[in-house]
Amino acid sequence: MNDMEKMSDFAIGVFDSGVGGLTTVKELNRILPNEDIIYFGDTARIPYGSRSKETILKYANEDINFLRQHGIKMIIAACGTVSSVINTKKLVDDIPFTGVLLPAVQAACSATVNGKIGVIGTQATIKSGSYGRAIKTIRPNTFVVGKACPLFVPLVENGYTDRGNKVARIVAEEYLEPIKNEGVDTLILGCTHYPLLKDIIADIMGEEVTLISPGEEAAKFANLCLLEQNLLNTSNKIGKNTFYVSDSVEMFEENAKQFLGHDVHGNVFKVDIN
Ligand code: DGL
Repeated sequence: MNDMEKMSDFAIGVFDSGVGGLTTVKELNRILPNEDIIYFGDTARIPYGSRSKETILKYANEDINFLRQHGIKMIIAACGTVSSVINTKKLVDDIPFTGVLLPAVQAACSATVNGKIGVIGTQATIKSGSYGRAIKTIRPNTFVVGKACPLFVPLVENGYTDRGNKVARIVAEEYLEPIKNEGVDTLILGCTHYPLLKDIIADIMGEEVTLISPGEEAAKFANLCLLEQNLLNTSNKIGKNTFYVSDSVEMFEENAKQFLGHDVHGNVFKVDIN
């Protein structure tokens, strides 16, 4: 067995500030069912989205160093904030790496017909302007409107995600009406937590608006990246998800079960990231 073959058996490392990166895990499990996934959710230090660039950089490096202890062949920063606030190209240079921003921007630029794209994200993500810059690089005349939705993350982390949840719906209406009024036909859910509110967001935006989930797009990109580098796991075994969190295992298990649709009990471990 040569080195490349061994490396292809390694896991894909995914990190986020909390439960939101599960949007990437769900898509990875769907399109790459025999890959092992090592996930780190920094639940003790969430939110990243209201922190300074320096702190986000420090946390991202610590998350990456943690994943590196587990024999991984690729890293996905499944966090919209990390992907837009810092220059992710500089974070990892020895194994394949992606954030969620570029895969999402490419998908949005392909999806829009009227050239009007909305972006929602954390305060740090919207303030960075990174999505708008990347969109205009690919499609210069696009109209881009951004809106920070800071209450979405606590809603998701506390499980307020059902289509019928009245609190989540009121908050979503408040945030989304101004973007809807601009006539966008494509909306980037620029924070990996937001797809967990997809049903409510879709109800408000209407069926003619395409919703882009950066986590899903990053998983598709990872598939292509591993394929290109001959690093896909070609064994017939079913891949295993192992989750690490820096705070409550129980809370994560509850949210993860609701989102992934299966029990993750026994596969979630608490770690001290410091
Ligand atoms: N994971 C973050 C993101 O995708 C949202 C939560 C946070 O603020 O840390 O932007």
